[in-house]
Amino acid sequence: MVEARKLSRHTGAEILGVDLGQPLPPDVVAEIWKIFVEHTVIIFRGQELTQEQLVRATGQFGDCAEYTRPKEFQSETQRQLLPQIMLITNIREDGKPIGAHPDGEMWFHHDTIHREIPTKATLLYSLAVPTFGGNTAFANLFAAYDALPADLKKGLEGRTAFNSFNYGSNKKGDPNAVKAVSQSVHPAVRTHEDNGKRAIYVDRLMTQKLVEVPESESEAILSRVFDFIEREEFIYEHEWKKGDVVMWDNRSSIHARRDFPADQVRLMWRTTIAGDARPS
Ligand code: SIN
Repeated sequence: MVEARKLSRHTGAEILGVDLGQPLPPDVVAEIWKIFVEHTVIIFRGQELTQEQLVRATGQFGDCAEYTRPKEFQSETQRQLLPQIMLITNIREDGKPIGAHPDGEMWFHHDTIHREIPTKATLLYSLAVPTFGGNTAFANLFAAYDALPADLKKGLEGRTAFNSFNYGSNKKGDPNAVKAVSQSVHPAVRTHEDNGKRAIYVDRLMTQKLVEVPESESEAILSRVFDFIEREEFIYEHEWKKGDVVMWDNRSSIHARRDFPADQVRLMWRTTIAGDARPS
């Protein structure tokens, strides 16, 4: 039986006694997946993984997707990694960032909501962390949907949202983003395919507007929704240690990165589990 420890009222569980460097028996994988779907975020501490082991660990939970940022916007160091691994770091070579999302705070978002078929989950493995800052905060959007005031629920239900992302932007309108954009339209509330629960599917960084209503109405609804879903009560904030693997469910959570000192190294490898259908 897999041992787990709940990390906050709604969000996050730490999985104990599992070495992701070793192949896991199918019943253990199934048990971990169940805990993951229920808590939306799971943490494995003290891991020591090669790139191959991280890719294999990811592939036990689903189809480990390739990193899709267009090659011309990738650094040489990024191009040397396994094709499934995305480098997230503030390290610079010749003054240029070698990884994605190099600096500081990053607004709340769902990974790849801007794609036709978004990824199900993300795994982030920490290789170097700053002495303070750089936490990642996760909000549970099942819980936020259940608690959402009725007028906001009405504002989202049955509507679709236009989402877009300029690769590399940490905030809307980020001047550091590269000129490669991906965009999609998805339901503003989605049904999770593993448990049938409803979760809010808009976020501050990537959702631009609700499609079916005038711009001003969309803005009024979305700004209240964003403030609501980012409330403390739905959040677990992860304070990284070297060797942590955090796996989060992009179908039922959003995450944001807190600021950290620019003169300290933060280095992570990221993999994702491919989605198999458009959100509905
Ligand atoms: C991400 O959103 O993919 C990065 C999160 C982080 O750097 O903590």
